[in-house]
Amino acid sequence: MKHLLKLEDWSTEEIINTLNLADQLKYEQKHGIEHKYLKGKTLGMIFEKSSTRTRVSFEVGMTQLGGYPLFLSSNDLQIGRGEPVEDTARVLSRFLDGIMIRTFEQSEVEALAEYGSIPIINGLTDYCHPCQVLADLMTIREFKGKLEGLKMCFIGDGNNMMNSLIVGALSTGMSFSAACPEGYMPPEHILEFGKKYGNGKFEIVTDPIEAAKNADVVYTDVWASMGQEEEKKIREAAFEGYQVNKELMAVTNDECMVLHCLPAHRGEEITADVFEEHANEIFEEAENRLHAQKAVLVECMADKKPEH
Ligand code: CP
Ligand code: NVA
Repeated sequence: MKHLLKLEDWSTEEIINTLNLADQLKYEQKHGIEHKYLKGKTLGMIFEKSSTRTRVSFEVGMTQLGGYPLFLSSNDLQIGRGEPVEDTARVLSRFLDGIMIRTFEQSEVEALAEYGSIPIINGLTDYCHPCQVLADLMTIREFKGKLEGLKMCFIGDGNNMMNSLIVGALSTGMSFSAACPEGYMPPEHILEFGKKYGNGKFEIVTDPIEAAKNADVVYTDVWASMGQEEEKKIREAAFEGYQVNKELMAVTNDECMVLHCLPAHRGEEITADVFEEHANEIFEEAENRLHAQKAVLVECMADKKPEH
């Protein structure tokens, strides 16, 4: 059974194959070529947090693949009233062909996979956001023609995005640098992953300008993630200066891309001028959620893989 619980569970080969399939599915969709690889399959989509891109791209993607998406808000499910995830997994496995879940605890996603008997796809937890990073890698390849040898730089919070970006970048031969304030670094085991697989091309510093030097891709995300709303004020103070702006972009390589998973807070983690200058890349990245996730859905749920 193939799941996408976190990106570190997938080998480099699995990641690259998925990116290749995503490119193929994007081509097929743009050229009106039928690609109903999930005919008759139903995907349950559990949301315990808000979403624009993840919900719409999974729902549309499943429809384009000939399957049926079922939106399940935790406000309506019994899980929201305390039914154990272990029971939810065993019940839903009898109705559905796959589950996409967005929630808080990574352990909830892992429990769904352990107790259920259908593929589970992580649509964001506090720990990681693997679907976003597959779309990000796809976008970088589209604009730069390669991944290997490029330098990715992340500015901001050592959060779910940064955790998955470290894994995605280092697994595909990119080097990775980041600037985070003290106290907002990624968890220790992600730092260990960076040291182990970074091959000397992994560094986390506190100075944004130092991190951004010679970057080919600059990435940022909000200072306060979903579930951290009460820390907003403290975080605004802690992240002052951790902004993607013209001064920071001046030390990057020529033709440096800027990516943002969105939603963006202009004037906080990114200035409006840098955002608009790179809007073409950022919105292609958003569109690629659709294509990358369709590839994930096919990889995890299709009876027969398309030839590519
Ligand atoms: N980037 C992302 O996951 O967006 P949503 O929160 O809108 O799904
Ligand atoms: N770090 C952000 C990502 C949103 C896509 C959050 O978890 O809210």
